Amino acid sequence: MKYTALKGVHDIFPPDIHIWQKVESVAKDVFTAYGFQELRAPVIESTDIFIRSIGETTDIVEKEMYTFTDKAGRHITLRPEGTAPVVRCFVEQHLYNLPSPQKFLYSGPMFRYERPQAGRFRQFYQIGAEAFGVAEPKIDAEILSMLKLFFERLGLKELNFEINSIGCPKCRPDYRKALLDFFSDRLEGFCPDCRRRYDQNPLRILDCKVAECIKLREGSPHVTNFLCTECREHFEALQSYAELLAIPYAINPEMVRGLDYYTRTTFEVTCKHLGSQNAVAAGGRYDLLVEDFGGPPTPAIGFAIGMERITSLLKLSADQDIPSPKVFIAALGESAGREGLVIAVRLRLKGLWAEIGYAGNSLKSQLRRADRLSAQYVFIIGDDEIRSGKVKWKLLSDGSQGEIGFNEIDTFLAVPPKA
Ligand code: HAM
Repeated sequence: MKYTALKGVHDIFPPDIHIWQKVESVAKDVFTAYGFQELRAPVIESTDIFIRSIGETTDIVEKEMYTFTDKAGRHITLRPEGTAPVVRCFVEQHLYNLPSPQKFLYSGPMFRYERPQAGRFRQFYQIGAEAFGVAEPKIDAEILSMLKLFFERLGLKELNFEINSIGCPKCRPDYRKALLDFFSDRLEGFCPDCRRRYDQNPLRILDCKVAECIKLREGSPHVTNFLCTECREHFEALQSYAELLAIPYAINPEMVRGLDYYTRTTFEVTCKHLGSQNAVAAGGRYDLLVEDFGGPPTPAIGFAIGMERITSLLKLSADQDIPSPKVFIAALGESAGREGLVIAVRLRLKGLWAEIGYAGNSLKSQLRRADRLSAQYVFIIGDDEIRSGKVKWKLLSDGSQGEIGFNEIDTFLAVPPKA
């Protein structure tokens, strides 16, 4: 019997794991410089939390949630995204009582029952950030500049920052009406989901992925033409801050995002090298969600980065730092093997990566392994070396070699002498 992973999920293991760890560590460094601290929320939550926040008529809630009933009959969902759990925690733990703004980062697996394809998985990983308590668009621009720095640190280029404002409850009714008017005479051609959404939530029609619907919505009214004065000023101020911080943004008035909780600013970072699933990061404001979850009125903004998409972009670039052993200790014979084992354990105590050869491996095969691991140094110990108290060393990068006393190994590895 051979077991395989489920459809749409994937294992992450060496050497790819090193790219993942690098992305995580760069995100942590950059986000920390912007004052974000880690928050770890559970992977499971009450289903209601996601229905209420993401929205009943969204694809995520209608089609993609992994929902089950537990043994006590509770409705539970594997989180399809990270914002709702963070907001639930923010309200439940009364984090709004702490000095504002509160800024959180998180990372981990998300689950959506989507049709798997390149860049789209059923279990995928996000790194996200959420900032609570600031309405002014300065923080929107800070978030974009944080993302810019993050991508720069990873050496990722050719990214587009697309921004939009989708208004607030004050400007929505006019826009909704304009959409209904626009769609009314062509409704027949839309997919059954969109026809249903026409009455329930016409904005969602703009997010439908069905080819006919995409075609039929060409020329539909742009939300930016319906913004109320406050939303328009907010959006203009965001653009001026974005210019101040040299964020290379473009306005995409057609971007509505697939989640209902957004108000005002929305954004996506896209890359043309990713094919149809081209968003590497996406987010926006959700100024009403904290209140909706029972907290005090608290403006908020955040985003999430898709790890699989970032790592696939990084894999395209040649220079990957794959960690390698500092030293490989090749030993011949039992007593040399014992000596090698003791040296390796001592070096590991100091945090150095040391590998040893194992019984039955010829010197040749041990050296081959050292080579395959790209060890920096090879130490060779045999009976002669034990007798003389010296170990032969070789630097694999240039082939230089020499001898040092067993008791000089630690200093040697700290500052190796010239051969
Ligand atoms: P989202 O646009 O649904 O937003 O997801 C954010 C990012 O996660 C996407 O741009 C993409 O890179 C990645 N992603 C989404 N679905 C998949 C999938 N099936 N497979 C692989 N990657 C995927 C959110 O999740 C919001 N919570 C972002 C946010 C935070 N808004 C405010 N705060």
